[in-house]
Amino acid sequence: MSYSQARKTLLSAPRTWLITGVAGFIGSNLLEQLLDLNQTVVGLDNLSTGYLANLEDVRCSVGEEKWRRFTFHQADILDLPSCMEAVSGVDLVLHQAALGSVPRSIEDPIATNAANVSGFLNMMVAACKCGVKRFVYAASSSTYGDHPGLPKVEERIGKPLSPYAVTKYVNELYADVFFKTYGLESIGLRYFNVFGRRQDPAGAYAAVIPLWFGNLLESKPCYINGDGNTSRDFCYIENTVQANILAAMSKNSEAINQVYNVAFGGRTTLNELHSHMRQMVAALSPQSKGSDPIYREFRSGDVKHSQADISKATRLLGYQPAHGVMEGLQETAQWFWEKKNSQMDSLQSSIGLG
Ligand SMILES: NC(=O)c1ccc[n+]([C@@H]2O[C@H](COP(=O)([O-])OP(=O)(O)OC[C@H]3O[C@@H](n4cnc5c(N)ncnc54)[C@H](O)[C@@H]3O)[C@@H](O)[C@H]2O)c1
Repeated sequence: MSYSQARKTLLSAPRTWLITGVAGFIGSNLLEQLLDLNQTVVGLDNLSTGYLANLEDVRCSVGEEKWRRFTFHQADILDLPSCMEAVSGVDLVLHQAALGSVPRSIEDPIATNAANVSGFLNMMVAACKCGVKRFVYAASSSTYGDHPGLPKVEERIGKPLSPYAVTKYVNELYADVFFKTYGLESIGLRYFNVFGRRQDPAGAYAAVIPLWFGNLLESKPCYINGDGNTSRDFCYIENTVQANILAAMSKNSEAINQVYNVAFGGRTTLNELHSHMRQMVAALSPQSKGSDPIYREFRSGDVKHSQADISKATRLLGYQPAHGVMEGLQETAQWFWEKKNSQMDSLQSSIGLG
């Protein structure tokens, strides 16, 4: 099924969805797209790394009529009754709730394991008990671990390099066992460095793109771990949303109980990324003084290069990433720039300068 066919099907026969981690970056973008397609959506989030402001942003974007189809549960996936309550009456689950970040997992493996493994298990049990038709979950490219092969092919993985990577691999093992023992249909999406609007630029565990847009707009320095030749397959959020919808809607029996790379299928070094972002911010905000990046130690738990082979997702799900890195970066730069301006406007009006 193509993405446009999947969208048409949803518009003609709306479903009820549960998005866990709905107040986070990827969850809120999934919510926006599904509400735009007139779907009924239940969202669950404990707001540990997500924000109500993300939900408010979606509300402004989709308008009040579509927003009425959304119900929010502020709850924790570590609480099985809350998972059961949220999942009851739902057709399809997009499970995004987890504690992301490799460094966070190295500092606090217990918290990461609780949310990412115990929480995942609760959601799978709840989905089984409530008769969910399909369970799509956020897996991770970190599962490739120390395998040196490039591009990354789903069937060839190495040993995990961080507690986070262990948790995401355990998700895949549980999903497989739940399919075999309880018949729960699932699809795992191994995301590769997703970026876009509403990704959190704040905090010690911010991902590189929102962090650098935040810093460049504030004329603060950007740090590169290593020599900057480290490369990643950066994937714009619209492509990730597409993969989730295709996975949830696929009628191909071969596509079920599988994991897929979700990426663009290219490679950008951190040096290239910084240079593109600096130029984009300079064009939007001439007063921001972009400077050369500052190099520091390579970070433990990181891999040097990452690039996905996306042919499995293309073949079995119909995945066709439509947004390249440069186009995605441009849209993301614009979003961070507008956000900064609107924050300035509200600050000025709150102190009587507006
Ligand atoms: N962003 C990426 O590049 C990337 C790459 C690989 C995998 N992933 C995975 O994708 C998913 C979404 O990531 P994101 O980038 O949107 O991160 P995010 O931190 O913005 O979103 C995660 C959301 O889950 C919620 N959450 C965390 N623990 C919870 C719990 N115990 N109960 C209920 N809610 C909880 C958080 O409050 C947050 O809103 C995660 O599973 C992450 O591991 C992301």
